[in-house]
Amino acid sequence: MRIDILTVLPELLTGPFDHSIIKRAKQKGIAEIFVHNIRDYSADKHKKVDDYAFSGGAGMVMTIQPIESAIESLTKARNYDEIIYTSPDGELFKQQIANQLSSYTNIIILCGHYKGIDHRIREHLITRELSIGDYVLTGGELAAAVMTDAILRVIPGVLSDETSALTDSFQDNLLSAPVYTRPSDYKGWKVPEILLSGNTKLIDAWQHEQALERTKRLRPDLIGD
Ligand code: ADE
Repeated sequence: MRIDILTVLPELLTGPFDHSIIKRAKQKGIAEIFVHNIRDYSADKHKKVDDYAFSGGAGMVMTIQPIESAIESLTKARNYDEIIYTSPDGELFKQQIANQLSSYTNIIILCGHYKGIDHRIREHLITRELSIGDYVLTGGELAAAVMTDAILRVIPGVLSDETSALTDSFQDNLLSAPVYTRPSDYKGWKVPEILLSGNTKLIDAWQHEQALERTKRLRPDLIGD
């Protein structure tokens, strides 16, 4: 899968993809991530990418030309399944959307910034608007990083244990059961006895029960009854 991220702050995205699981996904050739500086596409002699809003008021608005040029140069080279815009007023990004996007071949993520982008970009170029939560970030870069991570980790082969993405919280609208490791007794804090029993059937049933109990208590909205 290929993800192209368009941003005016590429420095914000140099760290998140160069470590651990996402780094390995890139090394294995499962994922390719390209971060593009929108400024590089500006036709303005000062490489301007924003301007005052026609409506007045505080804050600059990102102009159409550099963004359209960036998107055009990418879409000329290959087909994209989705051109996403990160915005607090977008559809809420959830596990099911991450799963769906992970089956795509190429996507573009355009990071919003400043006061916003010229609305005509959203009308004519963007195919999907996504928010990572009901709060406002300074820009869309962190949202793009969150989405990229969530999308890539569910692609088969990205996690070393193939099944582990499937047992994540949210994959079946249930939170995960708690996990424990050695020692089984730390200063009197004991691991539930059943996990030491070696009986996988009983352990599976216990984990499911725990998942249900935790979801009902912590996120009753996921069960929705
Ligand atoms: N840009 C600013 N806030 C955002 C949010 N909550 N989700 C996605 N993009 C954003």
